[in-house]
Amino acid sequence: MKRTLIKHVLNSSAVDEPVEVAGWVRTRRDSKGGFSFVEVNDGSSFSGIQVIVPGELANYESEVLNLTTGSAVAITGELVESPGAGQRVEVHATEVKVYGLADPEDYPLQKKRISYEKLRDIAHLRPRTNTFGAVARVRNALAYATHKFYQERDFLYLHTPMITSSDAEGAGEMFQVTTLDVGAPPRVDGQVDYSKDFFGKPTFLTVSGQLSAETYASALDRVYTFGPTFRAENSNTRRHLAEFWMIEPELAFADLSDNADLAEDYIRYMFQHVLDNCLDDLEFFNKWVEEGVLDRLHAIVDSEFRRITYTEAIAALEGAAASFEFPVSWGADLQSEHERYLTEVVFDQPVVVTDYPKDIKAFYMRRNDDGKTVAAMDVLLPGVGEIVGGSQREERHDVLLESITEKGLPLDEYWWYLDLRRFGSVPHAGFGLGFGRIVQFVTGMQNIRDVIPYPRTPNSAEF
Ligand code: 4AD
Ligand code: MG
Repeated sequence: MKRTLIKHVLNSSAVDEPVEVAGWVRTRRDSKGGFSFVEVNDGSSFSGIQVIVPGELANYESEVLNLTTGSAVAITGELVESPGAGQRVEVHATEVKVYGLADPEDYPLQKKRISYEKLRDIAHLRPRTNTFGAVARVRNALAYATHKFYQERDFLYLHTPMITSSDAEGAGEMFQVTTLDVGAPPRVDGQVDYSKDFFGKPTFLTVSGQLSAETYASALDRVYTFGPTFRAENSNTRRHLAEFWMIEPELAFADLSDNADLAEDYIRYMFQHVLDNCLDDLEFFNKWVEEGVLDRLHAIVDSEFRRITYTEAIAALEGAAASFEFPVSWGADLQSEHERYLTEVVFDQPVVVTDYPKDIKAFYMRRNDDGKTVAAMDVLLPGVGEIVGGSQREERHDVLLESITEKGLPLDEYWWYLDLRRFGSVPHAGFGLGFGRIVQFVTGMQNIRDVIPYPRTPNSAEF
């Protein structure tokens, strides 16, 4: 017989028909009447299925009574309407095949609640918990919604390189990639001889696919990337990873306001998608992780975002009753506490902040006529703060050249990027959305380390 995923069995109308399911035991209860209730979960949905195992089965005493939390089984039986409360259907087993037991002395995922911190040490087992199963399903749904959104709007999915020689953000936070013997590299005149390295020059893991996306948008009109990016910034916060996934759309013939429209539409689309497809999981998060996540998603799906300039944001913060750890002044970057104050207290809705001072933003952002600011935008969400960073790009060759030089970046690494401004240059814009942060927002999970299967953070790369 063909095995059916439990999510389909739970919705099935094939009552009184044969069925086969498989998965991992969550609980076993033995009844005085000489049979057992076994709850099996295969991760396809939040709920597992209740299985009634009659004592008459040949392996009842030898195997079924040894089943404990975490054991792997396949069940053949009949799907029947359940008389008990809590489930519509259940399976009456005619055969229980035991694949693997999980010794309760050693298996760490017993009934007792384990802290998220402890679960990070057993990240290979945590997908078997309610929380991490639900996070994985929501993460998957958001990824699917991402592709659906961009494909429906004729964006071309682009694979940009992970190994690069140019620093897309110019912030010097790159991990080096090398095949040289780091203990004893070849040298000339005391300096490491990179001509002997794999690529013949120093290379790094990319911090962003943006620069390559710009070249393709300048030929194919609209593109997006969705891939891993890497940052060697030593920030041990609950919203930073050293390896994180980012979605980066890039649009030709577009300005900052087109860019903000796209970001808003994309975020609302993702939220609608999870509301339509992951309600069981979201209800779990709403009840057990953060009360109000569901209302928040509904509210955002139905609303426009607030748009303000950086200068207006600073004025609002300077007038705030709150006291901040980091002082607020025009020219300083917004810190997480400021971002959250704007979106949670001042406006109580998502906020798009535009036109930041040029000195605190990347070299590629388009310079505004005031000479002080650039056409940048950050989208801020309650709880997580910055979710999107983007801009209109500098399309004027001379201005870009000046900006790269002013920031002290090596011109020879950007020759091809500058070439775009020499041949058929057009106004264009794009942004990057931090995928982990959007999963945090949707689930209410406090720490970004708990929304990616295997988090990479300073001093932590186990598994
Ligand atoms: O604001 P960022 O640095 O922008 C860029 O990388 C641009 N090149 C994007 C573009 O215009 N194509 O990063 C974009 C987003 C941030 O808003 C944040 O959500 C997320 O990426 N992000 C991180 N997420 C997790 N861990 C980190 N260390 C992150 N750094 C940025
Ligand atoms: Mg940013």
